Amino acid sequence: MQSENRPHPSRSTPESAPASTATLAAAVHFARSAYSEANPASRQQIAAASAYLPGGNTRSVLHYPPFPLVMERAAGCRLWDLDGHEYLDFLGEFTAGLYGHSNEIVRDAVTSALGKGVNMGAPGRMEAELGRLLCGRFPSIQLVRFTNSGTEANLLALAAAKTFTGRSKILVFTGAYHGGVLAFARGGSPANVPHDFVLGTYNDRPGTESLIDAHGQALAAVLVEPMLGSGGCIPGDPEFLRMLRDKATAVGALLIFDEVMTSRLGAGGRQGLIGVAPDLTVLGKYIGGGMSIGAFGGRRDIMSQFDPRNPQPLAHAGTFNNNAVSMAAGVAALSQIYTPAAAQALNARGDILRDRLNQLAREFAAPLQWTGLGSLMNLHCTDKPIRSSEDVAQEDALVKELFFFDMLRQGIFLARRGFIALSLCIGDPECERLVGAVTSFLRERRQLLSRTASPR
Ligand SMILES: Cc1ncc(COP(=O)(O)O)c(C=O)c1O
Repeated sequence: MQSENRPHPSRSTPESAPASTATLAAAVHFARSAYSEANPASRQQIAAASAYLPGGNTRSVLHYPPFPLVMERAAGCRLWDLDGHEYLDFLGEFTAGLYGHSNEIVRDAVTSALGKGVNMGAPGRMEAELGRLLCGRFPSIQLVRFTNSGTEANLLALAAAKTFTGRSKILVFTGAYHGGVLAFARGGSPANVPHDFVLGTYNDRPGTESLIDAHGQALAAVLVEPMLGSGGCIPGDPEFLRMLRDKATAVGALLIFDEVMTSRLGAGGRQGLIGVAPDLTVLGKYIGGGMSIGAFGGRRDIMSQFDPRNPQPLAHAGTFNNNAVSMAAGVAALSQIYTPAAAQALNARGDILRDRLNQLAREFAAPLQWTGLGSLMNLHCTDKPIRSSEDVAQEDALVKELFFFDMLRQGIFLARRGFIALSLCIGDPECERLVGAVTSFLRERRQLLSRTASPR
């Protein structure tokens, strides 16, 4: 790797011991200790931050034991931590970092916006332009509104569905993530907003049909990710998503696609790929060029509730809804960088990479698999089929933990849960580096991995 880097610590776990949970736990313990030793500056920074932030943290997903790496700077698809290690960034800021770090086009747009004044307390021209770009890409979006985050956009989409239908229940799916207060891993979170949620099982067609029938007349909306993103990159079956479309229409509920992550899978999102038009769509992450943003939009009759020229409009406030920096960065990014052709090429690269990683797992007879679509993928440490979050619960958490620390040691940065989101800066050489690192993991940890493999 590049010269200015400090080397990553080497590994010397004994591999000849018989594979058992204790051996695996010991290997994880050893990997964590080596990590801790190699990253004193990150450790000290998190300890210092703990004086002011709970656990030194202001974004829960970024924490992992013993402490997370603290990054100093980034460029393109590379990151450098406080201890001077260099990483290839395969996390891509959980999909918001689609353009890589400090993309010049985005940077120019941001600089130019800053030069013109940012907090003007009035409409600007850029929000209309970003709206035009989004409506052009997503035919199901006739009108759109901007928010500061995907979470906020989902909250507003649900509010719109409830007021439009005059109903209160919302069907969501176990394992789904629609934001910090709309999280349904293991069924839900005490921090969730208190809507009247009905929980379905992802990809369970007959079960979900029965649920919709049972709650039909009370159901305001079906809120679904076309692929569970945070829940492990589990694609929704097109037939499942089509069924949701048909059933929602049949009972008079709105279908909301949360495409905060999946909209990058094609020029018109996953809805464009499978030909299912939701009533409302929620967007976020990369659509602001990497700046804070969210958006919700859809059918004109539903979105018109927010038209302030109406006698009794639905209010949607937010100081930063039309933040000049986010709007300008989004316009530049969508019009000049993430063109339909760029979307196609990036997702084709992701498909090839995921196929290669799965091929590797098969060659080593390792109980691992990579699920996902296009540029998004997630490791699962099981060889059993993964179709819902219930299946994810069966995987081997220790193997995943070991994989994470082994990747960091080899200079590959990804989410602890095994999530990868390719940025436009990731090219063939970077994919080769990842394939090489995974190959080393499979080779070096062969014995530990063999303990959980199902007969093939
Ligand atoms: C599908 C989905 N919806 C909503 C959100 C929340 O977006 P934000 O983090 O911008 O609030 C996320 C974030 O990961 C997401 O993946």
